[in-house]
Amino acid sequence: MGSIWVTLLFISSIMVVDGGVGIPRTIDGPFKPVTVPLDKSFRGHAVDIPDTDPLVQRTVQGFQPEQISLSLSTSHDSVWVSWITGEFQIGENIEPLDPEKVASIVKYGRFGRSINRQAVGYSLVYSQLYPFEGLQNYTSGIIHHVRLTGLRANTLYQYQCGDPSLSAMSDIHYFRTMPVSGPKSYPSRIAVVGDLGLTYNTTSTVDHMAINHPDLILLVGDASYANMYLTNGTSSDCYSCSFSNTPIHETYQPRWDYWGRYMETLISSVPIMVVEGNHEIEAQAENKTFVAYSSRFAFPSEESGSSSTFYYSFNAGGIHFIMLGAYISYNKSGDQYKWLERDLASVDREVTPWLVATWHPPWYSTYKSHYREAECMRVEMEDLLYTYGVDIVFNGHVHAYERSNRVYNYTLDPCGPVYITVGDGGNREKMAITHADEPGNCPEPSTTPDDFMGGFCAFNFTSGPAAGKFCWDQQPDYSAFRESSFGHGILEVKNETHALWSWHRNQDMYDIAGDAIYIVRQPDKCPPVKTEG
Ligand SMILES: *[C@@H]1O[C@H](CO)[C@@H](O)[C@H](O)[C@H]1NC(C)=O
Ligand SMILES: *[C@@H]1O[C@H](CO)[C@@H](O)[C@H](O)[C@H]1NC(C)=O
Ligand SMILES: *[C@@H]1O[C@H](CO)[C@@H](O)[C@H](O)[C@H]1NC(C)=O
Ligand SMILES: *[C@@H]1O[C@H](CO)[C@@H](O)[C@H](O)[C@H]1NC(C)=O
Ligand SMILES: *[C@@H]1O[C@H](CO)[C@@H](O)[C@H](O)[C@H]1NC(C)=O
Ligand SMILES: *[C@@H]1O[C@H](CO)[C@@H](O)[C@H](O)[C@H]1NC(C)=O
Ligand SMILES: *[C@@H]1O[C@H](CO)[C@@H](O)[C@H](O)[C@H]1NC(C)=O
Ligand SMILES: *[C@@H]1O[C@H](CO)[C@@H](O)[C@H](O)[C@H]1NC(C)=O
Ligand SMILES: [Fe+2]
Repeated sequence: MGSIWVTLLFISSIMVVDGGVGIPRTIDGPFKPVTVPLDKSFRGHAVDIPDTDPLVQRTVQGFQPEQISLSLSTSHDSVWVSWITGEFQIGENIEPLDPEKVASIVKYGRFGRSINRQAVGYSLVYSQLYPFEGLQNYTSGIIHHVRLTGLRANTLYQYQCGDPSLSAMSDIHYFRTMPVSGPKSYPSRIAVVGDLGLTYNTTSTVDHMAINHPDLILLVGDASYANMYLTNGTSSDCYSCSFSNTPIHETYQPRWDYWGRYMETLISSVPIMVVEGNHEIEAQAENKTFVAYSSRFAFPSEESGSSSTFYYSFNAGGIHFIMLGAYISYNKSGDQYKWLERDLASVDREVTPWLVATWHPPWYSTYKSHYREAECMRVEMEDLLYTYGVDIVFNGHVHAYERSNRVYNYTLDPCGPVYITVGDGGNREKMAITHADEPGNCPEPSTTPDDFMGGFCAFNFTSGPAAGKFCWDQQPDYSAFRESSFGHGILEVKNETHALWSWHRNQDMYDIAGDAIYIVRQPDKCPPVKTEG
């Protein structure tokens, strides 16, 4: 790497240093909108990792565990361990494995002591079936989910998973539990990524993320991109462009196994919390959808009272996270909304001052791609999130980075959330580059809704500089910073009022941030709704 190049990077980027001197704070805003010009030297095509790459090949035998991952339950004392045993099948005459054949056992203990505790969970298989001539069916290996309970806060544990009766136990893995929930207690670093896929750019994102040592990872939808493939393993960077005549949107489910294998190194020791994106829809026979998503990941759904894999909540130290589903009913009479009302009402801001919400398609994005696509969801849910004083919203879907000024109902508002889009994880689809406010790039309103979200709500603005129009004619005031580049973000909540957010581009050195801001809460100026503690 040339030193000139390094020097240039240091000049054009922000070093995240102790004390964060010079890093702006949201209370000094709203800020004038910034668009970072496209870095043309990093425009290379994102290429999928092929099935021949050792990163994605099966390295275990028989019923030995693979694709091991962790996710959190609702509080520090409980964690989910997930893994897969046995081989998937794809083709004709596939025969689902019997999930009862292999036990779901985790042996664990505190680091430095003996592995003397055991938890038993459940197992399942899922199939992806296509009742169409020439298409191949898939059935998964046995997927295991085990919930560990009674864990101490902020403590390093060691564990092995598998079936001891088959001599099929994994190596020892390690994880640290979240700190106890309280206003002075936070995980050090939470990584936020979206729209990862499984390309060589994804590995760059994940490498950068791993070097930042997150305690927890949020994946805001669109994981494997298995739906860029036909069932015969042929793929394209644009499914609808290349395969416009298929009887159903096909997928190649082995890509999920490849994804699970590649991610294992990181997520067998760092918990990952996933919420569904449109690439997880994966329609199949009998109108089933989201089956791989709902089967492969463990979610604290029962624990958080939702009973749905599509929306749930959990605490990580003094932060309450709400994960919302954009591709199921979000309207006021639906189950999700009612659950959200109950969940928000039960949050005690004395214990978890920070309230963070995530879902896949952004409400506030200024890119042409997916512009105002989730407007019906915004109209339905924004008031509720605002009323309860949500501090930060993370989204993906748009393949670029953007951070908003505090905004509510398209109006700058010091008590509105900061919206951050990080759909730039490195998947093989096009990066979002075009802005809706550039001449000639405002989409025709009728083309903007997403079929899977339903409705049309994106009417022309009635006030502000864009009144009477569908798009602004310059970067909108609610957009503080935008850049089209691959990367990931890190949230470091410092105390009740200050959180440092930084965004890290794949083309930069690890300790450099392309964007950094202190997100500052003002509980006195913007009092959150009081709830029964
Ligand atoms: C994606 O990775 C390739 C190398 O595999 C690189 O040349 C290219 O610039 C990357 N693309 C972006 C947008 O970072
Ligand atoms: C796949 O499963 C569907 C639904 O059960 C069935 O109709 C179809 O014939 C199967 N295809 C193959 C290739 O086995
Ligand atoms: C897969 O199917 C598509 C569409 O029928 C075809 O164009 C392609 O050649 C097939 N690929 C393989 C590897 O059979
Ligand atoms: C699947 O959905 C389609 C269109 O919504 C409907 O026509 C069809 O009857 C459904 N099939 C099943 C098996 O429910
Ligand atoms: C809201 O969602 C429910 C459940 O999905 C549905 O029955 C109802 O028609 C929807 N209402 C509106 C106004 O869209
Ligand atoms: C949001 O703004 C629109 C347009 O200015 C207005 O019609 C609507 O009443 C506002 N909604 C709320 C809840 O303030
Ligand atoms: C909405 O705004 C667009 C331009 O952004 C304009 O072409 C269109 O006529 C407007 N529609 C209405 C109903 O005012
Ligand atoms: C919270 O953290 C920020 C940033 O580290 C610091 O400037 C501020 O003084 C802290 N506030 C309190 C009340 O500790
Ligand atoms: Fe998406």
